[in-house]
Amino acid sequence: MRMVDLIEKKRDGLELTKEEIRFIIKGYTKGDIPDYQISALAMAIFFQDMTTSERAELTMAMVESGDQIDLSAVQGVKVDKHSTGGVGDKTTIALAPLVAALGVPVAKMSGRGLGHTGGTIDKLEAIPGFSVEIDTKQFTELVNKNKLAVVGQTGNLTPADKKLYALRDVTATVNSIPLIASSIMSKKIASGADAIVLDVKTGSGAFMKELDQSKQLAEAMVEIGKNLGRETMAIISDMNQPLGRAIGNALEVKEAIQMLRGEGPEDLKELCLTLGSQMVFLAKQAISIEEARSKLEAVIANGEALEVLKTFITSQNGDASIVDNPDRLPSAKYLIEVTANETGTVSTIVADKIGTAAMLLGAGRATKDSTIDLAVGIVLNKKIGDSVKKGESLATLHSNSQEAQQVVEMVLAAYSISDQVVMKPTLIYEEIH
Ligand code: URA
Repeated sequence: MRMVDLIEKKRDGLELTKEEIRFIIKGYTKGDIPDYQISALAMAIFFQDMTTSERAELTMAMVESGDQIDLSAVQGVKVDKHSTGGVGDKTTIALAPLVAALGVPVAKMSGRGLGHTGGTIDKLEAIPGFSVEIDTKQFTELVNKNKLAVVGQTGNLTPADKKLYALRDVTATVNSIPLIASSIMSKKIASGADAIVLDVKTGSGAFMKELDQSKQLAEAMVEIGKNLGRETMAIISDMNQPLGRAIGNALEVKEAIQMLRGEGPEDLKELCLTLGSQMVFLAKQAISIEEARSKLEAVIANGEALEVLKTFITSQNGDASIVDNPDRLPSAKYLIEVTANETGTVSTIVADKIGTAAMLLGAGRATKDSTIDLAVGIVLNKKIGDSVKKGESLATLHSNSQEAQQVVEMVLAAYSISDQVVMKPTLIYEEIH
């Protein structure tokens, strides 16, 4: 087989076979096929798309390019949740103990963040002592015992995807539905999921800004999952403004705890209940979505979800007293108010700008090697549809520096205030099965 012939085939819109896709991914992972030929192929895929069968084969070839996590020692249906990412998305921290409280095994492999705020691991590390450095044996033992454990990503999961993603990033081929869908799904499948619930974000703060694109991505991922024998569903949720009110690592942990207490922002709670019901249903712990939802509401109300969170933190060497005393989480030295310049109703909050502002305070990494400040971040006091008076606080910066004028201006610029009536945005747009 010659790579040049396969590039030509895709360029001309023909379907690559399973053997051809294996040849490409194996050769690229080993270093036998050079970057320039894969770049040309990625561009051909960008323009010509891939068939259903090609998408599934590409995903599987990437899964098999590296280690696969064997979760067979974990009892029950392992349902993983994946979010395509957004500002203030602390869903996993609340959702994992919530569904675990109903007996759904959550064996979560998470990553650190780049840009915006940290990833789930960074957020969890805001809890004093918490560690994700556990070996595979401990990991499965903890999931079987507590129904929940979180471990850091292993070095050799889907190496083909790592190489391909880095190449796409510099060849203008990131934004291709088949390439994004196979990239995300390869990581979920290699992590050992039996079933997958996807939270595809849409809007200004999301990877996919338009609803139509987000829907196409969700459909592509659901189709790949099903073709590879994993029950998969997706919801499309709003990222036209940050999720909840808190952005920043310790601040987001605090908000996730509030949610598990039945308090906290309504959008975060609704998203957790929507995703959670699907997870509980796919894990066969409820016979309908409605039953799953009422069971989830019950473990919030009776405190069982909070107890699971405490056990989870203690089992991974963290200080679980932060659950009852969130003030023991790292906190910033200065609180700086960002006040409204006019009276009206909040009509937009550009999520990306808020994410960048939080990163400038130190909550996220500008480069892979930056260290993050777990205490700092932003709390939004007003969200879209809220009325505000001139001089009233729109947001509070939690900063470790008194010099935060640039961040104040950035947050202010992220807000628009209208003199018209503004409706609160829809949170859940669609479900894709
Ligand atoms: N996230 C991924 O993991 N892969 C992509 O291709 C895009 C976003």
